[in-house]
Amino acid sequence: LFPLAKALAQAGNELTTIIGGRSEKYVILFDELAAFSKETIATTEDGSMGEKGFVTGPLKRILDDPAAKPQAVYAVGPVPMMRAVSDMTRPYGVKTIVSLNPIMIDGTGMCGGCRVTVGGETKFVCVDGPEFDGHLVDFDNMMKRLRAYKPREDADHEKYHCRLEAAAARLEAAAATHAK
Ligand code: FES
Repeated sequence: LFPLAKALAQAGNELTTIIGGRSEKYVILFDELAAFSKETIATTEDGSMGEKGFVTGPLKRILDDPAAKPQAVYAVGPVPMMRAVSDMTRPYGVKTIVSLNPIMIDGTGMCGGCRVTVGGETKFVCVDGPEFDGHLVDFDNMMKRLRAYKPREDADHEKYHCRLEAAAARLEAAAATHAK
């Protein structure tokens, strides 16, 4: 989203940026986006930063405000969020671009792993996207495909643990001790 937002701002567009996360530590690039946004709004699910809730909260307010009606909405992030944003903007007729993130394998249009359906047509996200009209994306199909390996991933998560997670926990503990 960052380079896209920057380019839109540099092209003379007025931006309102809504950035969300589970909690404050997952909200990234807030200041960087705020540097070229007319307004920057943070939302967190636990209320630790900005408004409590999801990005669709402030988006609805903006869509309902006739003076603020956006010409386009760009959504980048988790698929359920992009779907919710697309569903929300559809009745308002606001062009909505989503950046799809399916399972990718070769990234060259050869394997078909990233196949999605957009406007009834098959597209390969790696070569045809990743940006698509959110109102035309078959999110049901995409979410089903994203879950294809979920049971196996869950089983592997039980078995294997990333060494970076342990290192991050050690760093966080050391930082907490240092802060005392
Ligand atoms: Fe293989 Fe796109 S990742 S076709």
